[in-house]
Amino acid sequence: MRFGTLIKTLSAAAAFMAVAAAPAQAEEAGPVDSQSWTFTGPLGHYDERQLQRGLYIYQTRCQACHSLGLVRFSSLADLGWELLEGQTGEDVAKAIASNYEIPYINDDGENDTRPGVLNDTFPWALGNPKRATATYGKAPPDLSTMARSRIGGADYIYALLTGYDDAHEQPEGAYYNKVMPVIAMPNPWPADMSDFEYPDGTVPTLEQQSRDVTAFLNWAADPYLEARHKWGIVVVLYMLALTIISFFAYRIVAAQVHSRLEAEGGPEPDH
Ligand code: HEC
Repeated sequence: MRFGTLIKTLSAAAAFMAVAAAPAQAEEAGPVDSQSWTFTGPLGHYDERQLQRGLYIYQTRCQACHSLGLVRFSSLADLGWELLEGQTGEDVAKAIASNYEIPYINDDGENDTRPGVLNDTFPWALGNPKRATATYGKAPPDLSTMARSRIGGADYIYALLTGYDDAHEQPEGAYYNKVMPVIAMPNPWPADMSDFEYPDGTVPTLEQQSRDVTAFLNWAADPYLEARHKWGIVVVLYMLALTIISFFAYRIVAAQVHSRLEAEGGPEPDH
C-alpha cells in the first residue's frame, strides 16, 4: 500500500469513526433522580386516592398500547373507592371490568370478544405483537411488573415519563427521552393538557400525572407491599419481646444458680 493511500484510508476510517461516535455520545442516558414516594421505607404504604388517579391515567394515556396482563380486575376492589350505599369495592371493580373487551374463541371457533369479568386481567388493546412491532418498531411491553423489572423501579418510570423532549433531534421513527435517548414509545403527553381533568375536577400537571401512574404501576407490580410491611413490624415487635423475655429469664436463672452455689459453698461465680 502506498503512503498516500494509507493516509486516505486512515482519514476515511477516522471520519467514519467520528460519525459513528457522534450518535453514541448523544445516546448517553441521563440520570434517574430519586423521588419521595409514600410506598418506600419500612413503613411505606400506598395512597389509595393516588392509585385511583394512576389507574385513570393508565386508562386514558397508556392502555391503548400497554397491557397489564398480571393484574386482575378483582384486585381493584381494594383501592379505597368512595362507595354508594349498599355498594362494595367488588361492585366497582366489576363495573370497571365490564368496560373492557376480552378476546376469546367462541363456540364456532372464531375470534370474538366479551365484556370483562372480575377474574380477567387488563387486556392488550393492540393484541398482536407483529402488528404492534410494525407500527411502533417495538411491541409496547406489558407493564404489570415494569416497576420491579427496571433498575430504579418507580424512580425510573417517573424519570422516563417526565423525560420527553420533542424539540430534541431524534432518529427517524424514534423519539428522544432523557433516560432512554432512542425510544420507540411516542411522548404520551399531549402538548396542551389545560382542559384535562381528574374525575374529582382537579387539573393535574404532567408531573402529577406521571407520579400518579407510576404509583399505580408500583402497586400493580407489588400489591402486597403493605401486608408485607405490616408483618415486618409484627415480626420485629415479636423478636423484641422475645429478647426482653429471654434477658429476664437469664437474670432469674443466674440469680438462682448464684444463690445455690453460695449455699453449697462452691466457687464464687464471676458475676
Ligand atoms: C402509542 C403507544 C404507547 C403509549 C400510548 C404508551 N406507550 Fe409506553 N411504550 C410503547 C412502546 C412502543 C415501548 C417500547 C419502547 C422501546 O423499547 O423503545 C414502550 C415502552 C414503555 C416502557 C418501558 C421502557 C423501557 O425501559 O424499556 C414503560 C415503562 C412505558 N412504556 C410506560 C408507559 C406509560 C406509563 C404510558 C402511559 C402514560 C405509556 N407507556 C404509553 C408505546 C406506548
